[in-house]
Amino acid sequence: MKKTFSLFLAISAITFSSFAQPNQNDESFKWFKKASEVINYQLNQATKTYLPGKNPRSINPDGTVRLAGLTDWTTGFFPGSLWYGYELTGDKKLAQEAKKFTLALDSIRNIKTTHDLGFMLFCSYGNAYRITNDSIYLPALRDGAQNLANRFNSKIGVIKSWDFSWWHYPVIIDNMMNLEYLYWAAKEFNQPDYANAANTHALTTMKNHFRKDYSSYHVVDYDPLTGKVLRKATHQGLTDESSWARGQGWGLYGYTLCYKNSKNPKFLKQAENIASFIMNHPRMPKDKVPVWDFDVHNAMDTAERAPRDASAAAVIASALLDLSTQVKDGKKYVDYAEDILQSLSSDAYLAKPDENSYFLLKHSVGAFLYNSEIDTPLDYADYYYLEALNRYADIKKIDSSITIR
Ligand code: GLY
Repeated sequence: MKKTFSLFLAISAITFSSFAQPNQNDESFKWFKKASEVINYQLNQATKTYLPGKNPRSINPDGTVRLAGLTDWTTGFFPGSLWYGYELTGDKKLAQEAKKFTLALDSIRNIKTTHDLGFMLFCSYGNAYRITNDSIYLPALRDGAQNLANRFNSKIGVIKSWDFSWWHYPVIIDNMMNLEYLYWAAKEFNQPDYANAANTHALTTMKNHFRKDYSSYHVVDYDPLTGKVLRKATHQGLTDESSWARGQGWGLYGYTLCYKNSKNPKFLKQAENIASFIMNHPRMPKDKVPVWDFDVHNAMDTAERAPRDASAAAVIASALLDLSTQVKDGKKYVDYAEDILQSLSSDAYLAKPDENSYFLLKHSVGAFLYNSEIDTPLDYADYYYLEALNRYADIKKIDSSITIR
C-alpha cells in the first residue's frame, strides 16, 4: 500500500514539480525513519521465532515469552501488528506472514463468552480484509460480529464484557474499543442492528462510566434484571475511584471511533473532554508516557519510580491522531501524539534490534495489582504504536516505505 503511495509521490513529483511533500531527509522525521527500520527488522525476526496460533504476548519475569493462544484476548494483536508493519514499511514478506498468523485464528469466530472478539478478530482479520480485500477473511468476521452483537442486552443498553468471576453484568471501559467491529460489520453484512447496539452501548457507558472530570471507572456492574447500576469499580486500576491509565486511553479511542461512525456530536464532545483530562493531567510525566494509573502519586510511587505504561501511551497517541482528523483544528492533538511517538521511538522505550524478544516497545503494565505483566513489552502496546505511526505518516504525508534488503 505504502509502495503504491511512494510510486504516486514519485510520479507526482515529476509531473508537478511544486507538489508539496515533506523532505524525507528532514531532521524532524529522522526518528520516524529509524523507528521504521527497527520495526521492520524486529517484526521479520518475530515471524521466524514464533508460530501461528501461539503469538507473542509479553515477557515473563524469568525472561521467557508468554504466548497468547486462541482464547487469549490479545491474540489478534500480533497478526494485526504484521499487517500494520506491512502498511508502514511496504515489506511484502510481512504481508505474507501476516496472512499465515491471521488464518491460524479461525476458531475464534466460535467464541461467545467475551466482548474481546473485536480485539481478537477485528485487529487481525479486520486489518487483513481492509488491506487485501480478500474474501477469505469474511466468514470469520461475519461469525465473530454476530457473536459479539449477541452479547448486547437492549434492556440494559450495553454489551456484557465478561462472563467470569463475581460480577453480575460487568461492562468495562475497554469494551468501547470493540464497537468499531460492530459499526464496520453493520455496513459490511447489512446488519443495522449492530450499529444501533454500538450507539446505545456508547450512550449508556457515557452516562454510567464517567465522572465529572471525564475520567472513567474501569468496571460498571449492572443488575441483569433491572439494568440498575450495582457497583462502579476497578479491576486493573489502583482503586475503584482512580484513573487507570489504559482505561482512559480506551475511552478516548472509543468515543472518537463512535463519532467517526455515527456522527453523533455527543460522542465527539466526550472524546474531546477525555482528551483534555488526559492531556492536562498534572501527573502526566514530561515524556507523556503515563504511569500505569494516574493516581499513583504517593511518596513511594512518584512518576519517576512507578512503572510507566507504554501501551496506554500508544493507545492515547493513536486515538489523538484519529481525533485530530475529526475536528476543525486538530493540531494540538497531532502535536501531543507526536511527542508521545517520539518518546516511544527513543531508546528509552523502543527496543534495539535483536533485543526484547523481538517485541517493539519496552515498559508496559498489564495488571499491576495482580502482579501480572509489570514493566514488560505487551503485544497491544506494539499494535497501537504501529497504528499510531501509520496514522501519523498519513497526516504528515510521510513516505514511510523502507528499502527492503
Ligand atoms: N482489555 C484488558 C486490558 O486493557 O488490560
